[in-house]
Amino acid sequence: MTTYRIAPSILSADFARLGEEVRNVVAAGADMIHFDVMDNHYVPNLTIGPLVCEAIRPHVQVPIDVHLMVKPVDRIIPDFAKAGANLISFHPEGSEHIDRSLQLIRDHGCKAGLVFNPATPLHVLEHVMDKLDLILLMSVNPGFGGQSFIPHTLKKIAAVRKLIDESGRAILLQVDGGVKVDNIAEIARAGADTFVAGSAIFGKPDYTAVITAMRTELATVA
Ligand code: DX5
Ligand code: ZN
Repeated sequence: MTTYRIAPSILSADFARLGEEVRNVVAAGADMIHFDVMDNHYVPNLTIGPLVCEAIRPHVQVPIDVHLMVKPVDRIIPDFAKAGANLISFHPEGSEHIDRSLQLIRDHGCKAGLVFNPATPLHVLEHVMDKLDLILLMSVNPGFGGQSFIPHTLKKIAAVRKLIDESGRAILLQVDGGVKVDNIAEIARAGADTFVAGSAIFGKPDYTAVITAMRTELATVA
């Protein structure tokens, strides 16, 4: 039986009330908080950094899952570890030395993940599976919330599912972008177990209703 995890992305939260927002979404059943870091360089948007991570840390007990959309990544990794991140993932394009960046995350006591854009090939995985706790497949191009799920991601999810199963390692397979109540079961059937959802949750008045509806959909997956 697969354990499914729901990771609300605070990108769509009300930043003026962020402490309350993360407490509410955890009370509504979130398994982790997805924290989107954008630098106006690797992606055309600018969001939040380690200070905000540190500020929300005392408000939640669940893991904080930091998704770095920045380039370069190495200088900022220790700052997020100190700010209370539990899991840090980055895009291979954001690092000149992927193995070193993964090791840096682990050396700072965090779990490590790699993120693949819709058009980024998966071949680097071959060499780093032993250093990964999470693989994140982007189902939109990174930079903004509220975009539509790109359907060809489903094939990529299935391919990564196979790689993880063959590795025999407990690596989370996370999907990020356009995840909603009405497509989450299909995404799970392709092989994902961890679901980032921003606008589907924070865009709605009742977080519990959305997360419960997502879990009801996931319960239909064999
Ligand atoms: C996009 C971010 C996502 C974003 C998802 O670059 O990485 O985490 O918040 O937003 P939705 O769920 O609205 O597509
Ligand atoms: Zn993200």
